[in-house]
Amino acid sequence: MHLGTLLTVLVLISFLCADYLRRRKFKVPKGKFYSSNQTPTIMLTLLTGLKLPPGPTGKPIVGSFFGLHKVLGQNLMYQWREKYMVNALFQQIIEIAQELFEKRGALYSDRPSFPMALLLAWDYSVPIMRYGDWWRRHIRAFQQFFNSRAVSSFEPIKLKARQEILKNLPDTPEKFPEHIRHATGRIIMDNRANPDYSFVSSSLERLKKLKDPLPNEEVVIRNVAGTAYGGGATTSFATLLQAVVASILYPEAQEKVYEELDTVIGDRLPTLADRKNLPYVNAFIYEVLRWRPVVPLGVPHTVLEDDVYGEYFIPRGSIIIADSWYDELNTIF
Ligand code: HEM
Repeated sequence: MHLGTLLTVLVLISFLCADYLRRRKFKVPKGKFYSSNQTPTIMLTLLTGLKLPPGPTGKPIVGSFFGLHKVLGQNLMYQWREKYMVNALFQQIIEIAQELFEKRGALYSDRPSFPMALLLAWDYSVPIMRYGDWWRRHIRAFQQFFNSRAVSSFEPIKLKARQEILKNLPDTPEKFPEHIRHATGRIIMDNRANPDYSFVSSSLERLKKLKDPLPNEEVVIRNVAGTAYGGGATTSFATLLQAVVASILYPEAQEKVYEELDTVIGDRLPTLADRKNLPYVNAFIYEVLRWRPVVPLGVPHTVLEDDVYGEYFIPRGSIIIADSWYDELNTIF
């Protein structure tokens, strides 16, 4: 037998023996998938006949360590996308995203560690929290206040912010970014006496009424308030600026927006209730979100357990990045 073939067979046999012993030691039930925290990925792919999703291969032992700097320096992510992208139709990409992030959400909702964010003391921020009870308590607190039913109760705050922009713009039009920034910050921060309008006061009111509150509930309220400001005000501000950029670059679209607003609204300020009567304005907003998403690569997720999608093996701990900008750029609505 050729020496190379003999070596390959020996390596495979030793892998199989090692796996048999590991399964006995860790009592892995029959039919359950192998766990990559106990078995090297390369062995798992050999044993199962599945492939890893296409991507750059690391070097033995050092992995991708010496290539990491390139990610920052050369926008390597985009080069990888061109090189390794799996051919799929937009509809298929949406189906994959729905399958992984929604149907298998419990498996794909964890986050990697973000050392830089932790150094900046951003551990309060919900989008970077690890999946688990602590995260769940924050999401629940969020959804109690920031939900689609509650949106209309924010209308007085938003009206005030709009009036403020319109009052300031004629005096200092060149400062339009500051006016927009102030308005989006104000909407999130508004801390009126009326508890319906303020997340912090209404949550504290609710907490006072609870007979047996969970420990650290004030910390949850503080973290959610901080996230709403940090994650909500900056994203909304950047999105509104993109709307201004789109209006400048596409004056014909801007004209149509004005025409619809003049016809449907007239002299008063628009409200949320008008939205259903403004199809072009709605389409313009969706187009801005699609054209220049402010978080184009989303926030990375990680997989809690080994998983299989189609012919691919997705090892536990893999970082999953939802590249929404690319998907959306390739879409024709
Ligand atoms: C144009 C505006 C916004 C954009 C583009 C945006 C974008 C995003 C993205 C990409 C994520 C990560 C999603 C994921 O990984 O599954 C996220 C998460 C989150 N955002 Fe926003 N966001 C916006 C506005 C807001 C506002 C106004 C709030 C709160 C008032 C908010 C609160 C959150 C929270 C709490 C999470 C974490 C969700 C989780 O952990 O499951 N966002 N956002």
